[in-house]
Amino acid sequence: MSDTLDKNEILGWLRETNPERLAGLWRRADETRRRHVGDAVHLRGLVEISNYCTRQCAYCGLRAGNLQIPRYRMLADEILEAARQAVKFGYGTIVLQSGEDYGLTTRWLAELIRQIKRETPLAVTLSLGERSNRELAVWREAGADRYLLRFETSDRHLFHEIHPPKGTRPCDRLGILRRLKALGYEVGSGIMVGLPGQTFASVANDIEVFRELDLDTIGIGPFIPHPGTPLGLGFNIFPPVNGEQVPNHELMVYKVIALTRLVRPDANIPATTALATINKKHGRELGWQRGANLFMPNLTPLKYRRLYEIYPAKACIAETDVTCHGCLHARIQTIGRHVGQGPGGRRNRDLPGAEGVSGGRNLPQLPARFSMSRVLASSESPPVANLRFGSEPVV
Ligand code: 5AD
Ligand code: FES
Repeated sequence: MSDTLDKNEILGWLRETNPERLAGLWRRADETRRRHVGDAVHLRGLVEISNYCTRQCAYCGLRAGNLQIPRYRMLADEILEAARQAVKFGYGTIVLQSGEDYGLTTRWLAELIRQIKRETPLAVTLSLGERSNRELAVWREAGADRYLLRFETSDRHLFHEIHPPKGTRPCDRLGILRRLKALGYEVGSGIMVGLPGQTFASVANDIEVFRELDLDTIGIGPFIPHPGTPLGLGFNIFPPVNGEQVPNHELMVYKVIALTRLVRPDANIPATTALATINKKHGRELGWQRGANLFMPNLTPLKYRRLYEIYPAKACIAETDVTCHGCLHARIQTIGRHVGQGPGGRRNRDLPGAEGVSGGRNLPQLPARFSMSRVLASSESPPVANLRFGSEPVV
């Protein structure tokens, strides 16, 4: 059951500045979080497997047009090593993330997923951009459990401006989210807060979209300008939105997290790395106390980590995985919460008393009507780009 906030109330909260009333919002979000998803903070080990990207997002430092960063692709053995590390740390999930890199071929990744599933009890989450229906189906069949693809903003015009389509077909991220769901993935999405040209009304609408979509995970982070991107250079491609521009500061992010918790009480909501980046000291804790219940510690080997620069000055860019692990445990305990066990998916959530019962296996099954041949027949994918894979990463 979701909170009965309507869109006007959401808009009112987004504009709210009174500290006492906001304290009431944080309390309400925190209680809803505790009642519906319990006190566990789930940790999902993030491995940034490639920083190659074929797209030209105006906000993202990995965009193909940014020639300033050396590109890398991790080797299968390195990724497997990171997966073993995730198991050692007791994480239930590994998240494989990259730019939209067609050098990560369908077959290679399917084999890697199979190997991770054979060797470990981990849930496997993919976050690889707008991949074709066929690829998504193959990876699902190989054992991938979840997929993350943010819709970034529900303002279609703004999205189109900051995320140029590839070829002539417009991007349809909501369509991809629907297809992921039909394939039996647990699906995550989310937005950035404070994009140039983003209005309060459009963020209220984003929260309405969260209410309507049946999402497992909802990631909400501040937009952080990157100097190697058009938005970071301040290119003025948007008409001014006098007084309606949503700021990209942390208070705004907490409001969106809290309101999202109220409309989707049982979702997994991370305190994002972007939030931790704009308040390195307390951003995570404040996020967890205002509706969030998740974090994705970075397991990418240090030599690659600084090259995965979606935005500058990312939190935990120089800390080892061991340091981050200890730091997170301490932070979680300090606020009176505990680290979640098992995969922490929405369908086997560890409500008080039920923790760890799944042992990492109780993840969504392929739907009964799932038919690989049907999916392949309906594939709209272009042939996989002819990029070499497995070359030594440039570092
Ligand atoms: N600031 C904040 N978040 C960003 N992302 C990409 N670029 C930026 C930026 N400059 C987020 C997008 C993307 C996710 C992987 O990272 O929401 O979906
Ligand atoms: Fe890589 Fe947008 S720049 S997906």
